[in-house]
This record gives sequence, C-alpha cells and structure tokens, in this order.
Amino acid sequence: MSNDCKKAYITTPIYYVNDVPHIGHAYTTIIADTLARYSRLIGLETLFLTGTDEHGQKIQEAAQKRGKAPQEYADEISAKFKDLWDYFDISYDTFIRTTDEKHKIGVQKAFETMYAKGDIYKDNYEGFYCVSCETFFTKTQLIDNEFCPDCGKPTSIVKEESYFFRLSKYEDQLLAWYEDKEKCVLPKGKKNEVINFVKQGLHDLSITRTSFDWGVKLPESLHDPKHVMYVWLDALMNYITALGYGTDEKDMKFWPATVHLVGKDILRFHAIYWPAFLMSLGLELPKHIGAHGWWTRNGEKMSKSKGNVVDPKEVADAYGLENFRYFMLREVPFGQDGDFSQKALIDRINSDLSNDLGNLLNRIIGMSGKYNDFVIGSDDVMKYHQKEIEDADAIIANIPAYIYDLQLNRYLEELWKILTIANQSIATYEPWVKMKEGKKEEAMALVALVANLMAKVALLLSPVMPKTCSTIAEALGFVINYENYQKLIENKALLDTFMIQKVPPLFPKIEKELLKTDEPPKQEEKKKEPSKDEGIITIDQFFQTKLKIGTILEAEEVPKSDRLLKLKVDLGEAEPRQIIAGIKEYYAPQDLIGTQVCVVSNLKPAKIMGNLSQGMLLAAKDKNGLSLMRPEQPKQSGTPVG
Ligand code: ME8
Repeated sequence: MSNDCKKAYITTPIYYVNDVPHIGHAYTTIIADTLARYSRLIGLETLFLTGTDEHGQKIQEAAQKRGKAPQEYADEISAKFKDLWDYFDISYDTFIRTTDEKHKIGVQKAFETMYAKGDIYKDNYEGFYCVSCETFFTKTQLIDNEFCPDCGKPTSIVKEESYFFRLSKYEDQLLAWYEDKEKCVLPKGKKNEVINFVKQGLHDLSITRTSFDWGVKLPESLHDPKHVMYVWLDALMNYITALGYGTDEKDMKFWPATVHLVGKDILRFHAIYWPAFLMSLGLELPKHIGAHGWWTRNGEKMSKSKGNVVDPKEVADAYGLENFRYFMLREVPFGQDGDFSQKALIDRINSDLSNDLGNLLNRIIGMSGKYNDFVIGSDDVMKYHQKEIEDADAIIANIPAYIYDLQLNRYLEELWKILTIANQSIATYEPWVKMKEGKKEEAMALVALVANLMAKVALLLSPVMPKTCSTIAEALGFVINYENYQKLIENKALLDTFMIQKVPPLFPKIEKELLKTDEPPKQEEKKKEPSKDEGIITIDQFFQTKLKIGTILEAEEVPKSDRLLKLKVDLGEAEPRQIIAGIKEYYAPQDLIGTQVCVVSNLKPAKIMGNLSQGMLLAAKDKNGLSLMRPEQPKQSGTPVG
C-alpha cells in the first residue's frame, strides 16, 4: 500500500453465499478494515468495499438443495455476512451484491467493451469444471483424470458453446506488469508463483455458460439470451461496478484500487484474469494485490465442508472482538498459514495486551493520581527523556513501511517496542524513589514520557483496536483523530497536558479456555505420554527403509498446487529420480538446486497430482516451519544413510 495519492480504495473478496461466514472470511475482512481505518487516520479519502458473490452454478445448486429460489437463498446468506460485519463494526463504505441491478449493468457494459475491442470471441468449450471452485480445467490438470487439483472434489465434463476471452493475448503485458511494479502482488513469494504460472502459457478463458441460468445475462446487443456470464468474470467486475462503472461513475475517482485483499486460494483470478480484463477495458491496474494464507485447524484448511470451522462470532464474544482482531493480525505473518488455537489467543491477551499494554495504562493512571492529582504536564519530558522520545520516534518513522507491505504483524511488533521503552523507563527511573527523594519534577517528567508514548501507541494501534484505543485516549484525556495523528506522529510533538481519568482494566487476565472445541492435543501433553515408539522395531526392520543422500538437479512448481514442487534428484543411479515434495511453502525452487537432501529411496512409486513420485524427502516440521534433513558436509549422491 502506498499513500502517494490522497485516496485509498481497499477491497475484500466478495464472499460466496453458499456458506455462512467463518474465521477465514473474518480474517480477510479484519485486515481490510484495519487498512481502511489506517488510511482514514492518516488523512486519506478512503473507500472500503466488501460484499457477496451471488451468481453461478454453485449458488444455484446450494439453493436447490434447500428448496429455495436462488435469489431468496442469496438474500438470506448475504444478510448473514452483512450482519456479521455490522456486529464486528467493520467500517465498510459500500456492501456490493452481484445481484444488484447497478452491478449487472456494469458487467454487461464491460463485456460489450471487451467484445467491441475484439477480445471476446465465440467458440465451443470442452473440458472439465469444478463447481466448488467455479473453475475450468483440462484433463491433464486433474487428479486421477477426475478430481479438482485445487479442492480435490470430483469435476464434471462440460461441453457447451461459450464465449472466450483472449487471455493469451495479454501474457506479455502481464509479465511486463509484474516486472515493472515490484509490489503489485504481495508477498513476493506469491508473486513468483503467479509469474511462473503465466510463463507456462495462458489459454483463452471461457467466460460464458449455457447449462444453467443463474447469472448475469449477456448484453442485449449480442442477441444471445441463452448465455450467462462466467461467475468469476461477473465477480471480479464488482471492484469497478461498486464505483459506478457503466452506470453513474460516481466513485470512479477511487480507481485504481490501492489494495485488493484476497486469500491465496483466489490469487490467480486476481493477479492474472483481473488485470487482463482491466487491460482490455483500458483501465489502470490495481496498485497491490495482497494474498494472505489460510487459517487451519490441525493443519487443514478451515472450511465448512470439512466441518472444522471456527465461528468468528463465538470467538469474539468469548474473548473480546478487539482482542481477537489483535490476535489474528499479530499471530501470523501475512501470506503464511496459521493454525487457530485458543491457547495462542489467550497467551496474546495475557501477555501482549494485559501485561504490556493494559498494565502500562494502569500505572500511568496510578502514578499520576498519586503524585499529582491526575494532571500530567509535558514541559520537562525533553529535559530528562530526550533519548527515549527520539528512540520511539525513530521506530515510528519506520513503521508505515510495514503497513505498505501488508506486514501487519511487524507493524504491531514495532508498536510493542515503544511499549517496551515505556515499561523499561519506569523500571529504570523508579519514579516512586524520585518522589521519596523529593524530586517530583523528575518523577512527573517520567510519567509524562510514558503518557506520551502511550498516546502515540494508541493512535497507531487504533486501526487494529479502535474501541480499546478510544478508551485509552479517553483515560489520557485526548482524542484519536487526524489532527492528533499529525501532531504526535507526523510532527513528533508531545501532548502539552494530560487530564487523566480512571477506566476499568482493559484486559482482565484469562485463566482458562472459554470455548469448548475439538482442539488437537497440546504438544506438551503429547510429549508426556509414555513414548509409544520406543523399542518397537529391530535394526533389521530399520534398514528395510533405504535412505540415501541425493543432490537436487532441477526444481519446479507443480502447476495448480499450493504445496508441491517437482524435483529431479540424483541418487547416483543411471537416471535422476523425479520426486514430488510438499515443500513449496517453505522453499523457492531456485534455492533448492544444487543442494543435498536425505531421500527414502525404496518407497513404492506413487502418482501425486498426476505426477510420478519416485521417493520421499526427509524433513522436520514444527510451528516455525519446515526444514529439510541434509548432510552436515557434502556427500556423494547415492551415499547410504544409516
Ligand atoms: O472465493 N483462511 O469466495 P469465498 C483464510 N466469491 N481465509 C479464508 C479461509 C481460510 N480458511 N477460507 C476463506 C470466493 N477465506 C469468491 C471471491 S472475489 C471477486 C470473488 C477467505 O466465499 C479468503 O479471503 O470462497 C478467501 O480468498 C475468501 O475467503 C474466499 O471466499
């Protein structure tokens, strides 16, 4: 994100109405809300868009299953999303529904424009379709000739007349865009995946369907009423139709988007199809597309169909909405997956929020009351604490960069460094001793230092925890607004005086898990169990597994897979082995080439996503990631391990 113009346009995906919202949807929306609030705080004219994606075969089938008309069903679920965002105080400016008349007109206008440009042609489509992902596949992309490579569900054969978008025409322009705009797709690792996908060649995209009718009709000028638009074409256009594209154009001044926030599952649609459509329409491209990772339970993506979802409302009700927001943003680096656990949430609340932040406020209230009747003046802060103020301002100067790179966890980490300066200053300068020694000026200078640091943190933390920070500001006697942002953050000034008010403790400690869930057994408990793997196998049995040192000769991504890399590994045999390894999230292919690994060489070959795998790499994985097992010193390829 950058603030080089005075406007910000922030979007979430529009969520399918086949499912009620869960923690994953809440995550994207909370990140977007934080960015929107931050943009407003720093004085940008901001538009924040969210909404629901209501057309397509998946929704039509979901409605049918429940014996409802698609529109009635969409109304019901769309309202659930809107209600949850309202309950969560999500500060969206526009909630779009793809069944809105204005949206449909805009999509038809876009179709007409691309058609007039010669980018759409009519042909026949023959291939496979995954209704769950609303995605077309060729036979070679399927698993076992049948299953969707993205979600694993069975696909269906589609053979129908279709209009196609000339996606292939935009291959070079897309590659030039990725090259030219370093941060167009964030994080970098995800951008590389997109580039590799495009480099493998783009096929033209089928953009209409005839076998069902729950979708936007083609523009009348095409006289082809049996076609409805492909749901992804319809859905992606929401980012401009919400601004009035093709109708009143009222908010088109917000285009291009500052950031489209998406989960990694839908990055391809946003980083390939969407910019290509925009190029065809002659519109500017979004400044950033930010792809975050998944929330998982026991390592599996959370989804309704797996029955492993966490209800965000339950969590927020039990632990506090803003604590939950803080946790989600602080716990997981942007782009990586995170496993949801109540223990981690409780740790964050008790440690970061209660100890570091809440206690500091209590101490400011307590010290100011005891030493000076709840009045703090900043006159002597620079006399005694210039260094601490300068250290904090140096941290503050660097932190917008983290927001612009969508690294909200780093942003919060930096804010916590300021709290550390404040907490350490109290311990170092011991104002209670100063008071006893009759050095009230010094003691109060310290209290004023800490109050000013707290005010700066409250301003910058307010996009993440708006109500909490308003309460902190109320306790300190100031308000969170643009004027104070300019004063305390941009101009590095101090507040002249603080009239302190008592507020109840912000973060009462949480002693035990508050929700009953099917959490996996904790690591410690697992360890304490008598080791079931002691004394089970003989040495002969061990040597039945042949382990060898291998040298990686080639490494590339397996198309359409988030996890898999295809490796060519030299095991000292006539031909290198092909090994499919689930390590893509942890290693870039180019970094693996020439490195050595430990390989199980006598595994029965298996087909993984249609690719032959002739072995397995040894690796260790914990919560910090995955590491391949490698020899300490280089060894000849094929050297046995044992
Ligand atoms: O894909 N962890 O809608 P959708 C983190 N309608 N985020 C998750 C998640 C998880 N386990 N599960 C879902 C669609 N999400 C299309 C979008 S946009 C033009 C059309 C979040 O309801 C994440 O943002 O399947 C993901 O991209 C989105 O929900 C998918 O929502």
